[in-house]
Amino acid sequence: MSNPLFAPLRINTLEIAGRVFKTATTETLATEDGFISEEYLRFYEPFAWAKTPLIITGNMYVGRSGKPTFRSPGIDNDDKLSGLRRLTQMVHGHGAKIVAQINHVGRQTNPKVVGIGTALAPSAVREMTTFTKPRAMTLDEIKRTVEEFAAAAKRAQDAGFDGVQVHVSHGYLLCEFLTPHTNRRTDEYGGSFDNRLRLPREVIRAVRARVGPEYPVLIKLNGADKLMVKGGLGTPELVEIAKALVSDGVDAIEVSCAHYESGFPMLCGKFDGFIKTQIKHGQGAFLPKWRQSLMGLMDGPLARYANRKWPTQEGFNLEAARAFKAAVSVPIICVGGFNTPEGMRYAVASGGTDAVSIARAMVADPLMAKHLREGSSGPRCDYCNLCVARGGRDGLNCVNPALQVQRREMLKAAGF
Ligand SMILES: Cc1cc2nc3c(=O)[nH]c(=O)nc-3n(C[C@H](O)[C@H](O)[C@H](O)COP(=O)(O)O)c2cc1C
Repeated sequence: MSNPLFAPLRINTLEIAGRVFKTATTETLATEDGFISEEYLRFYEPFAWAKTPLIITGNMYVGRSGKPTFRSPGIDNDDKLSGLRRLTQMVHGHGAKIVAQINHVGRQTNPKVVGIGTALAPSAVREMTTFTKPRAMTLDEIKRTVEEFAAAAKRAQDAGFDGVQVHVSHGYLLCEFLTPHTNRRTDEYGGSFDNRLRLPREVIRAVRARVGPEYPVLIKLNGADKLMVKGGLGTPELVEIAKALVSDGVDAIEVSCAHYESGFPMLCGKFDGFIKTQIKHGQGAFLPKWRQSLMGLMDGPLARYANRKWPTQEGFNLEAARAFKAAVSVPIICVGGFNTPEGMRYAVASGGTDAVSIARAMVADPLMAKHLREGSSGPRCDYCNLCVARGGRDGLNCVNPALQVQRREMLKAAGF
């Protein structure tokens, strides 16, 4: 009997040989000025070798003001094209497909680390996890951002990517425009539903116009903001947003959740040692000593709270994905906690989603697609979240001590 997880799926003109995707994981493996490096290519090769049906890159910045962090890749200039082409050629050489995720991080960044004066956002609302106080964008800056997204999408097409994914979730710039808590503007880009939606719509229309009708344009969108303060969006409003963006030319929607200020509903799992790891190996390493010391005090209490509040759960965005699937006709991709063939099959077979996408469990087992096809299994992620905690400074890898021997042997046997 054929495996339903490898039934073909079409997104616009793109034929994909299965329903299990590698989703975006910021790699911290580009050069410091945003070029694709050998390390970056080495990270992606096992996923391509395993013929993962679709690989979505970690976010690539569309312009310098939208750079997430140290060693993020850029798609902001034609000088990046040759490196990006090496990536798509390598992936295609193994028979896999790859989509570029394009992003502007808005206020969720550390301006000092990325070398910009002030972060840009819809409004000057301080971000409480990074403590970044952004500046409200001018109308000229908004217009420039639309152009940056369109130019980045065209660059993705020119570099040979099989499609582009516009990041409209996780509290980054376009998501910040949608959410009343982060968008306090009183001009035509803030206030009403239509006004908050204006910039994402302008971006999607500009991207579509630039890449033509047949090029796959995906988005990643929250199924719920899950903010701990007032002013976040729930599923019904986000479904209406999805419908509008589909009418502007979106071909598929990946459903996720949360902003940084939501805590960790986006990364349900375990949080023991999370902050200490972040200070030693991740973004926290760039902070002044006094802030590191304060953060260090939070390590135990945060773990105790977060372990209870956001425990490991397979398919934790599936109910939201189901609401999108019922409302729009384009393919839905559900991300969040997928790790077992049974869980993935249920998500697809129950009609909750057309495909599942996977971050942490595929970082642990980059050959997962091959294992699923063969009915075998590889290193099994236990959602220790240490890969996330190290994000933004050390290069991405699985560092779960329990998996290292099995993982090394598996990759060695495959020639990596
Ligand atoms: C190390 C790491 C980096 C991530 N970077 C990105 C990113 O660049 N863009 C994005 O949309 N999501 C990013 N995410 C979130 C994932 O795409 C995904 O939404 C989340 O991890 C839940 O999926 P999972 O349970 O399969 O890990 C990242 C997650 C991890 C673990």
